[in-house]
Amino acid sequence: MSQLVTVEGGDGIAVVTINRPEALNALNDDVLAALEEAFFSLGRDPSVRVVILTGAGKAFVAGADIKAMAAFSPLEARAFAQRGQRVFSLIEDFPHPVIAAVNGFALGGGCELALACDLRIAADTAKAGQPEVNLGVTPGWGGTQRLARILGRSAAKLLLFTGDLVTAERGLALGLYSEVVAPGQLLPRCLELARTIASRGPVAVSYCKAAVNLGTESTLGHGLSHEAELFAQTFATEDQKEGMRAFIEKRPARFQGK
Ligand code: CAA
Repeated sequence: MSQLVTVEGGDGIAVVTINRPEALNALNDDVLAALEEAFFSLGRDPSVRVVILTGAGKAFVAGADIKAMAAFSPLEARAFAQRGQRVFSLIEDFPHPVIAAVNGFALGGGCELALACDLRIAADTAKAGQPEVNLGVTPGWGGTQRLARILGRSAAKLLLFTGDLVTAERGLALGLYSEVVAPGQLLPRCLELARTIASRGPVAVSYCKAAVNLGTESTLGHGLSHEAELFAQTFATEDQKEGMRAFIEKRPARFQGK
């Protein structure tokens, strides 16, 4: 695998690091390809329960690569937008939770990447935003869509129209992050959270992700009916039998993920 993206880990937790610090991890075709390859291969690994996504150096990701985009034609720009959207959708639809460990700048495409993850934990030094309007362009990797869905229209429009960067504290207040921690605590806290999630019934966790993702994009009726179906399907798993047996026997459950 390309060193532009590294994957480490064990015990069901994979840490994916975008590794182009000299360009603040700006995403070009090569980085997108490496990121896609990393998530494809993690998706095929039955031992993976949770992924943590972070950036090397002082940035999470400072956006799409402006130098690569500067001379794009409209057709090239559309293809680049669609390429990034496919990779981010792969992450959003990844069967297990993905936690963004936002270690620094999460700008433009970097903020959009974090928004495609299930949870975002930030270092208190992180700065996020959608500064595309400063470059005379719109976001192209879901910023206008996921930001509005996660933060609400009003906060999303404020960030999109101004291009202003928000501190971690402000991001927490806006609902961009679920937690903000000291920089030295970022990875330990994400690992702690990942270990907690990895200890739960893996099929159930995966179904919770699918139910929220699908349900919030459809009517309440469709969402509830999907939820009932997933609930029913959990009763076909060993995990359900083990989880309920363990409760009755007053011992911790040992889930197999099947
Ligand atoms: N693309 C390409 N290179 C980038 C980059 C980006 N998005 N962000 C930073 N870099 C490069 C810089 O050009 C610089 O490279 P050189 O040393 O070769 O000059 C290197 O990373 C370090 O950056 P700075 O010297 O600028 O670092 P700084 O600490 O002074 O500033 C920053 C940090 C405020 C994040 C600043 O780099 C910046 O504003 N970056 C651009 C952020 C941005 O506008 N992102 C949105 C991109 S558009 C987009 O993402 C569209 C989309 O939705 C698809």
